[in-house]
Amino acid sequence: MKIPVIHTKHLLKVSDLSHSEITELFRFTRILKKQQKAGKKHHLLKGKVLGMIFEKSSTRTRVSFETGIYQLGGAGLFLGKNDMQLGRGEPLSDTAAVLSRYIDGIMIRTFEHSKAEAFAQFGSVPVINGLTDDFHPCQALADYFTMYEKMGCLSGKKLTYIGDGNNMAHSLMLCGAMLGVNVSIATPDGFAPNEDVVAESQDFAKKTGATVTVTNSVEEASKDADVLYTDVWASMGQENMAEERKRQFDGYCITMDLIKNHAPNALVMHCLPAHRGEEVTAEVLDSEHSIILDEAENRLHVQKAVMAILMGTK
Ligand code: CP
Ligand code: NVA
Repeated sequence: MKIPVIHTKHLLKVSDLSHSEITELFRFTRILKKQQKAGKKHHLLKGKVLGMIFEKSSTRTRVSFETGIYQLGGAGLFLGKNDMQLGRGEPLSDTAAVLSRYIDGIMIRTFEHSKAEAFAQFGSVPVINGLTDDFHPCQALADYFTMYEKMGCLSGKKLTYIGDGNNMAHSLMLCGAMLGVNVSIATPDGFAPNEDVVAESQDFAKKTGATVTVTNSVEEASKDADVLYTDVWASMGQENMAEERKRQFDGYCITMDLIKNHAPNALVMHCLPAHRGEEVTAEVLDSEHSIILDEAENRLHVQKAVMAILMGTK
């Protein structure tokens, strides 16, 4: 099977890829997913090893990357922060350089985005961002791939994100704008997405004919949405603010009433883990509007395509 070739060595944010590369990634993902479902092996990374550095918790990211590299014929190494000398102060530059002598790719989940960038700078193997405080590109790519499976061409569709202007809001804005999706963000005052990321997304949107808007109004943002998306009010690293945030985000919730009154045909998405009764009601998450399990599954298929492309062609 021919692996698509792309220009970037790393995937740190969605805009490391071009529009046509995302389209090519989705095409390749469909092939891998179909083969996997048919029980056909595709050992495109036979003998290769992915190091998976986790400085934050994970269920989906860890299991989908580890399963994915195994299905591609390689192996995944879980590298927890406290099990590595990195946790005892070994310089990141040394860690990245040394790991690059052993393994063929690095997936990193960490706090500051600059750390993921530093791994790319000081290592010599491809680096994949498995979530930083600012971006979660693999999740956004899996989300738009899921939308593409459900509704075909994405250009002109509307995705509304309700909640914190965080790593998910950023990645959904960037990827959506690149794909021609109208992205509408509703956040409480003080929790808007980063202005530079909004500006970058709006630049992409100009080229694809889409729009990127930010408002405080959940109702206004949700009008006629094809997808209503939300994420936790307190992300990893913000646990000490969780109680305060419950008050600050009150009302920034996907409810059945919101769907009925503003976006009756909307599909509901959430990167998970979810807090039922906070950013989304249990009724909505467990209703036929919800496609959360499909998007979680697609993390596996999209990331296999990402790994094969970055680790199999460089
Ligand atoms: N959506 C996501 O990244 O889930 P985990 O935190 O479980 O990896
Ligand atoms: N915004 C959340 C996403 C979890 C997948 C966090 O960073 O914790």
